Amino acid sequence: MAFLAAALDRVKPSATIAVSQKARELKAKGRDVIGLGAGEPDFDTPDNVKEAAIDAIRRGETKYTPVAGIPQLREAISQKFKRENGLDYKPEQTIVGTGGKQVLFNAFMATLNPGDEVIIPAPYWVSYPEMVAICGGTSVFVEAGISTGFKLTPEALENAITEKTKWFLFNSPSNPSGAAYTHDELKALTDVLMRHPQVWVMTDDMYEHLVYGDFTFATPAQVEPALYDRTLTINGVSKAYAMTGWRIGYAGGPLELIKAMDMIQGQQTSGACSIAQWAAVEALNGPQDFIQKNKAIFQGRRDLVVGMLNQARGIDCPSPEGAFYVYPSCKGLIGKKTPGGKVIETDQDFVTELLEAEGVAVVHGSAFGLGPNFRISYATSEAQLEEACTRIQRFCGSLD
Ligand SMILES: Cc1ncc(COP(=O)(O)O)c(C=O)c1O
Repeated sequence: MAFLAAALDRVKPSATIAVSQKARELKAKGRDVIGLGAGEPDFDTPDNVKEAAIDAIRRGETKYTPVAGIPQLREAISQKFKRENGLDYKPEQTIVGTGGKQVLFNAFMATLNPGDEVIIPAPYWVSYPEMVAICGGTSVFVEAGISTGFKLTPEALENAITEKTKWFLFNSPSNPSGAAYTHDELKALTDVLMRHPQVWVMTDDMYEHLVYGDFTFATPAQVEPALYDRTLTINGVSKAYAMTGWRIGYAGGPLELIKAMDMIQGQQTSGACSIAQWAAVEALNGPQDFIQKNKAIFQGRRDLVVGMLNQARGIDCPSPEGAFYVYPSCKGLIGKKTPGGKVIETDQDFVTELLEAEGVAVVHGSAFGLGPNFRISYATSEAQLEEACTRIQRFCGSLD
């Protein structure tokens, strides 16, 4: 009898965590490494949010909370959905989890039976297929390549749907590509879903607030209200409010599904950290100027990185609408040799040799299901980004 669960055979460790780990190890050995692998804002959590947490501790808000979240946070979430997305979710139709990650995971756990299919556009966030696998479902990957701005076409979605499709997993702006769908692009996808009543929509809106220029964010149940009864709208405070360590994510959806997720969470972690929940109340209800200020900074960094990467030989870097990632193609460098004689055969070779030669840590695209590309997180200072891009230009120029 095997000691470890068979489900583990289906799960891979996170490539993004592995890259951060490798960069840390090299740094510890004294190498000058610039890590562009991390998926978190480099800003500090706003002071008003920190103060709300400290106040909560002083008031003694340090006990177990209701499994689905404190009423004040569920009310704030309900109002957020109304105010920002035009969505009516009553507080009892919301659930708070320990990060968006737990909310996604429990939604799959609550709904997937063996054989159920989940459509995942590629490139995708590394955790999606692993969560589906752990919960016994089957991921169906559909390419959303560089030629369509890393966006899924309605035809590709239509072709991927079968009678076994349970979920369509939608993520805009996307990790890893930064691509975000306009209202019309999303409407073209929801039109397809209207023809397939068995398919539910799980939308991961984690990067909602990080869109640039005059781009307007849209979410499926808002674009197609007829999908409301089969949509789970997931969001969180991690990225918008620089609160990755506080571990608060949330969702709004049909009551029956929320109740099922509540039951699973009740036998699992119970309510999220009480103090972090009070901090999240302040993040959602308090002043929002933090978001605007940081958006402007991220946009400047995006433009810098896209500009410099497109000057690197063999690199093609589209300018994405949102998030804090770019997803350049390194196709033009496949088959080339490093000065040491190593042939770059895959995007994984590209990132390994780049780290070796220039000490720049990025994540290979094949980890996100679409290559040859690599992902750069620009959630770091302009000075670091400029230096990293200069090194990437030098590395690409050295290949022959
Ligand atoms: C697309 C996407 N969804 C969800 C999450 C999870 O966020 P959280 O920190 O709230 O668990 C991340 C974090 O990297 C992400 O990139």
